[in-house]
Amino acid sequence: MKTRAAVLWEAPGKWRVQEVELDEPKTGEVLVEMVATGLCHSDDHISHGDIPPEHLPVVAGHEGSGIVRKVGPGVTTLEVGDHVITSFIPGCGKCRWCAMGMQNLCDLGAKIMVGDQLDGTFRMHADGHDIATSALLGTFAEWQVYDELSLVKIDKDIPLEIACLVACGVQTGFGSAAYAGNVQPGDVVLVFGVGGVGMNAVQGARESGASHIIAIDPVANKQAWALDFGATESYGSLDEARDRLAALTNGQGADVVVLTASIVDNALVGGPLRRPQGRHARRHGRELGERGRADPRLQRELPRDDADPHPGCPVRHEVAPRGHAEPAEHVPRRQPQARRAHHAHLHPR
Ligand SMILES: NC(=O)c1ccc[n+]([C@@H]2O[C@H](COP(=O)([O-])OP(=O)(O)OC[C@H]3O[C@@H](n4cnc5c(N)ncnc54)[C@H](O)[C@@H]3O)[C@@H](O)[C@H]2O)c1
Ligand SMILES: [Zn+2]
Ligand SMILES: [Zn+2]
Repeated sequence: MKTRAAVLWEAPGKWRVQEVELDEPKTGEVLVEMVATGLCHSDDHISHGDIPPEHLPVVAGHEGSGIVRKVGPGVTTLEVGDHVITSFIPGCGKCRWCAMGMQNLCDLGAKIMVGDQLDGTFRMHADGHDIATSALLGTFAEWQVYDELSLVKIDKDIPLEIACLVACGVQTGFGSAAYAGNVQPGDVVLVFGVGGVGMNAVQGARESGASHIIAIDPVANKQAWALDFGATESYGSLDEARDRLAALTNGQGADVVVLTASIVDNALVGGPLRRPQGRHARRHGRELGERGRADPRLQRELPRDDADPHPGCPVRHEVAPRGHAEPAEHVPRRQPQARRAHHAHLHPR
């Protein structure tokens, strides 16, 4: 079939919305009519070349939601009509890590930066080229074929255009504070960058009982929004917050620091920010990990990332779309899609 997708042909480069050929779902795969996708900063890193794609052209996007319209041979967990959100790490359910309840470390995660499907072939094609997808997903498309292992079925009463945010930003941010950072009641938490991930880290810290949540972001609107989401105070820079942090912690620094400020350098890491036994949780661009500009000891302080995609479902379903967290309020901009009118009758707001 033919569908439209936002394709990146070169990096750095711009997304080009164009018609592409989409294959039928193969064994273990399903065809999904997409309803919504978020734009994560990781997608921006791909188009800017901060995260060089393994294969070009590529359709990125990993924060999507939609409705299963067709199932391929051998699919056992999904059926036509199911509502799904994407998972940027597949969960095979069988490897050592999945068996231990850590599906965020599933062995199949080794494939998410490669670009092809699990069987090594591509489902999208244009102008004589195979088109890669990021994270085995590629949600920047109106229709897409996914492995069933990369999808999480959700209840049909959850609005799909809100649920898509849970596929990355909500669970990454919430999990960075609640799980990787292990925020405890009474902790002083510093969140650098309150965009898609950081705003949810604020909420994860709030739900974990932090006594003080200090948000730092140079954008004035985000400083204000952070207060609505549970930050107890917000500042435009570390320099503005430094005295206050010292006063709150007897000069010892925060208990937990969550870094989500996109490209992170040493100016944001370590030093007087946190107390000696404090915990770091970071969601970062490439610089911290791959260019080695940060203290490598930080790596050892991160026992787990994020929330497990499937066991994380209570977070996804109860805390976020229905509970105390506010993904619905967390959509800074909505871009109308060509197909919006078509979907309106499916998901009236
Ligand atoms: N699982 C993962 O590892 C994972 C998942 C999602 C995002 N990420 C990464 O996390 C980072 C954040 O993603 P996002 O979607 O939230 O991005 P975003 O653009 O929505 O948010 C980043 C925020 O950082 C702020 N900022 C910029 N410079 C700053 C500074 N010096 N101090 C404080 N704040 C600053 C920006 O104003 C913005 O609000 C990206 O690098 C992204 O690739 C990782
Ligand atoms: Zn993301
Ligand atoms: Zn697995």
